[in-house]
Amino acid sequence: MPPDQLPAGRQRLIWRAERAFGLKDTIASKRPRAAALQPALKDVDTAPDAPAARVDDLALRGAAPPLFADAQYIDTSAAPDALSESPFDSPVLSTAQKRIQLDVMNDTEVRDCQKCGLSRTRTNTVFGEGDVDAGVFFIGEGPGETEDQTGRPFVGRAGQLLDKMIAGMGLRRDQVFIGNIVKCRPPENRVPAPDEVDTCTPYLVRQLEIIRPKVIVTLGLPSAKYMLKTRSSMGQLRGRWHDWRGIRLMPTFHPAYLLRAYTPENRRAVWDDLKKVMSVLGLADAPRQ
Ligand code: URA
Ligand code: SF4
Repeated sequence: MPPDQLPAGRQRLIWRAERAFGLKDTIASKRPRAAALQPALKDVDTAPDAPAARVDDLALRGAAPPLFADAQYIDTSAAPDALSESPFDSPVLSTAQKRIQLDVMNDTEVRDCQKCGLSRTRTNTVFGEGDVDAGVFFIGEGPGETEDQTGRPFVGRAGQLLDKMIAGMGLRRDQVFIGNIVKCRPPENRVPAPDEVDTCTPYLVRQLEIIRPKVIVTLGLPSAKYMLKTRSSMGQLRGRWHDWRGIRLMPTFHPAYLLRAYTPENRRAVWDDLKKVMSVLGLADAPRQ
């Protein structure tokens, strides 16, 4: 079928793929809606810094804004899995409550955490950021140099590619949540050691329990291995749905790996994985905002 006769939803998918991955072979020749894609991509490029609110800000805000009026902090720090084994048995939190839980966890536990040796070499902890009601939660490996400097996840070169992957899905970065299996940079960007992962991941698990995304996307093998408790290879894991406590989980390549091996096969593999995620999120045929 000539590209300009494809159904609109299919054509949008193709343009997204083209934008995100430069898959020239699937590109429609006529692109009447190309201009409509610009604002979203521009937004990604110029996304404002969004530092997490600190506890003092919350205290200041506490009295006035109705947003926080219904919300109370629940202490879940003593037992990492205090909310429950399955996120779906735990209480559903309001948006305001989720923000409080996350902000307080960051301010009182994570920001100055010294539970593992990575605390000695880091500059900043990287808590993670995004929409607390996000449908999709991306899990990377650990902060790199730029993330260590800024305290924000995926803001270096790999982060720019992740931004494109997110834009390719028809989403903005602030509509997803982005975290890592460890919150401090491993020296020389080495893979985090098992004891570091064991020490740090209770924070991630609590973030997942609070946010309760519909889909988890692990980026790279270390996060897939941790979440799925598996020794399988990326080739065996990616492209198929897995389960993490009742939440669908899709492993895919890490954007840093894609940058190193920027082949059409790898880009298409990631795009195939993301299309599966989009379909579960109901994004495949959704018109662009
Ligand atoms: N790589 C990761 O795995 N996480 C980041 O936050 C940045 C790069
Ligand atoms: Fe704490 Fe995690 Fe950083 Fe280790 S990596 S010091 S457990 S925040």
